[in-house]
Amino acid sequence: MQRILVTGGAGFIGSNFVHHLVAHTDAVVSVLDKLTYAASREALDGLPAERVSLVVGDVADQPLVEKLVGEHDAVVHFAAESHNDNSLSEPGPFIQTNIVGTFCLLEACRKHDTRLHHVSTDEVYGDLALDDPQRFTEDTPYNPSSPYSAAKAGSDHLVRAWVRSFGVRATISNCSNNYGPWQHVEKFIPRQVTNVLEGGRPKVYGAGTNVRDWIHVADHSSAVWTILQHGRIGETYLIGADGERTNLEVVAMILAHLGRPADDYDLVADRAGHDLRYAIDSTKLRTELGWTPSYADFAAGLAATIDWYAEHRDWWAPHKHATEAAYAAKGQA
Ligand code: NAD
Ligand code: DAU
Repeated sequence: MQRILVTGGAGFIGSNFVHHLVAHTDAVVSVLDKLTYAASREALDGLPAERVSLVVGDVADQPLVEKLVGEHDAVVHFAAESHNDNSLSEPGPFIQTNIVGTFCLLEACRKHDTRLHHVSTDEVYGDLALDDPQRFTEDTPYNPSSPYSAAKAGSDHLVRAWVRSFGVRATISNCSNNYGPWQHVEKFIPRQVTNVLEGGRPKVYGAGTNVRDWIHVADHSSAVWTILQHGRIGETYLIGADGERTNLEVVAMILAHLGRPADDYDLVADRAGHDLRYAIDSTKLRTELGWTPSYADFAAGLAATIDWYAEHRDWWAPHKHATEAAYAAKGQA
């Protein structure tokens, strides 16, 4: 039995990972989460109290983090400010949580010699041209574009330095765009789905030709658990499920599933510095650790996700108005 500390475990991916641990392992889990606007206590509802507990706190609170890390066998670090658009309006919290928070965690793991898995993003590599035959690999140079991705890149570099200089037992994963239940309505797929469910139209940045490489959140969780168990210390693993789609293709699938005409969307002001394309080559993870995704069919996974949002209005509706008001203020509604 392992005691695992999951930072950001009340967020979209962290909560899915906690469910994965309860379902597939005998680990006892503590969640450390600040419960920012992005968190959902509801996402942890129904989990057995003897397996999962929640500590409300900040990953940048050094004494708290040192105490908690000392009580666990391993840490999986999801806690972050995660939305690019927010990082353009107010970068400060991204520096504080993503960089200073990771620093605090690393110091605690160094002190207690605790195993750490750091969850990061493919955005640290910048973007690819739409027609580039290459995909990101573990050897792609770092080239982040936004305050969010720059802060995540900074956190990755801290982890690498703490491995090399202090012998911290850490691994890193860089994953592509996740979709699935419990994702905040500020993000692309939930925003468009809930717009349509409310009788409105999807809002697509620029020309809608940007490409994202979609992976179901459950596949991200299984990959992180595989790396935590079997990954080599100091190594980076890219996580992806071959899910490249343009934003307009995704919108077309959402509109078709909800019975709306294919042209029933609006093009709105583009995001500043908008990355063109992300694409992951996850060969290392698949060949070295034997991981494969379960959700090979993006259309089926997206349809199930749309249905989930239709059935969980009570959860997202209270956040919808303020989220759309913030987009409207930026000319993106
Ligand atoms: P999210 O915004 O849904 O959740 C983040 C969670 O972290 C929230 O519960 C929030 O309350 C918590 N948190 C924020 N600041 C904190 C702090 N200072 N102390 C403690 N908790 C804090 O994010 P997500 O989409 O679930 O992303 C989780 C992680 O995965 C992030 O590190 C992100 O960079 C990474 N990631 C996300 C994606 C994606 O597609 N969403 C893809 C690759 C990697
Ligand atoms: O690649 C991994 C990253 O994926 C994670 O590290 C981030 O935490 C996560 O938020 C996500 O970043 P993106 O910026 O790619 O995701 P977002 O959902 O914000 O946007 C996806 C695409 O859709 C992007 O090209 C911008 C576009 N978009 C987004 C919104 C919110 C729109 O066209 N309209 C919108 O309303």
